[in-house]
Amino acid sequence: MNNGESSIFEATYLGMGLEVPRKIAQGGDQIVFELPGTDNAVLKVSHLALGGILGSVAAYRTTPYPRTLTDQIAWDQAEVRARLEIIRYYGLVEAIGTEHVPREKLKFGPLLLNGRACRELWGTSPLDEHESRWFWTTLRYQEKVPALEHPELYNTQDLRVSYPERKLPQDPDRYIAAARKWIQLSDPTPRWTDVDEELLLDVYGTDSLRALLELMEQPEVSVQVGKLLDGLYNLTEIAGESPDANRNNIILYQDPQTGQWNYSLPDALIPRYKAGAIDTSRAILRDFFAGHSQILLRSEESNLLANTLPVVAVTNALRKRLGRPSRVELGSDLRSYNAWWQILRALQVA
Ligand SMILES: Nc1ncnc2c1ncn2[C@@H]1O[C@H](COP(=O)(O)OP(=O)(O)OP(=O)(O)O)[C@@H](O)[C@H]1O
Ligand SMILES: [Mg+2]
Repeated sequence: MNNGESSIFEATYLGMGLEVPRKIAQGGDQIVFELPGTDNAVLKVSHLALGGILGSVAAYRTTPYPRTLTDQIAWDQAEVRARLEIIRYYGLVEAIGTEHVPREKLKFGPLLLNGRACRELWGTSPLDEHESRWFWTTLRYQEKVPALEHPELYNTQDLRVSYPERKLPQDPDRYIAAARKWIQLSDPTPRWTDVDEELLLDVYGTDSLRALLELMEQPEVSVQVGKLLDGLYNLTEIAGESPDANRNNIILYQDPQTGQWNYSLPDALIPRYKAGAIDTSRAILRDFFAGHSQILLRSEESNLLANTLPVVAVTNALRKRLGRPSRVELGSDLRSYNAWWQILRALQVA
C-alpha cells in the first residue's frame, strides 16, 4: 500500500483512539488538533458546533449513542450537517481542482475529550478534570499544508479581504461610492473600463491584498492568480458558494525548492452555511433595491451578505486587472444610493 495515499485514512482511526487529541491551533471557528501517530494530517472540529452539544449530552457519559428523543434529534441534525459539509467539500474540489485543495476526510464521529480539555477549550466543562467522554461531531481530517505550517519558508500570502459593511464605515459616502463602482462590475451592462479599481481595493482591500497585487507584477504569480480566480469563479457560478476570504483560507505560496508559485484552498467555504449562498445574496439585494426599506435580516443572512459583497468586489476587480471577460454578477440595476445606506444599516444590527 502506498503510504502517502493511506495515511489520511489511517488518521481517521487514530482520531477515534483512546487518546485525547492535543490542540495545535485555533481560528475563528475551528479547533485544529494534532493526530497522534501521524505527522501529515490534522483534525479540525468546529468550536461552536461542539460547544453546543457539551452540555446537552449527559446521556453520552457511558455510551456514544443518544438515549433521549432530544439527544436523538440533536444527533440527527448534526449528522445531516456533516453530510452536507461532505457534499460542499466535493463541490469545492470540483470547482478548484484536486491539486489545489488539501485532501480531506469528513465524517460524523466520536471525539474523546476529558474535563481538562473541555475547560481549556470552552472555559467550562460537564466533566471532572480527568473524566473523559465521547462527543459526536463533524470530524474533519485534513492533509497538512506545509505553507501554513511554515509560512516564512514558503513566502505565503493569502487572499484576504476586509469587511467594511461590518461596522459603519468612517466615511460612508466613500464606501457607497466604492460599492456603486463595484456594482458596475457585478452589473452586466456597463463596460469594465468604467471601473475605478483603486477605490474598490481601498475600501475592500487589506495589506495582504496589496502585497498580492505587488507580487502580481511577476508574470508567473499573475498566471497562478488567474487560475485561482477562474476556480473561484466556478465556485460561485457553478457551486453557488460565496468563498471565505478570511485569514489563511485561500493562499498563494512559493515552493522553496523549485521557486514555483502555487495556491491552495484549505478552508475556502464559509462555515456551516446551508446552500445557495450566491442565490441568497442575490435575492437579498434584489429586495433592498426594489425599495423594501424595512428589510430585517436574520443574522445568518446578514453574515452571508457581509461575506459575499467584499469577496465578489475584490475577485471581480482582480479579474478585471487580469483581463478576464466574465465576472460574478449579483444582479442588475443595483444602483440606488438609498439602498446602500439601508444595507449598511441592516448589517449593523446582527
Ligand atoms: N491543513 C493544515 N495544515 C497546517 N496548519 C493548518 C491547517 N489547517 C489549518 N491550520 C492552522 O490552523 C489555523 C486555523 O485554521 P482554519 O482556517 O481551518 O480555522 P478557522 O476557524 O476557519 O480560522 P479563521 O477564522 O482564521 O479562518 C490556520 O490559520 C493555520 O495556522
Ligand atoms: Mg479559516
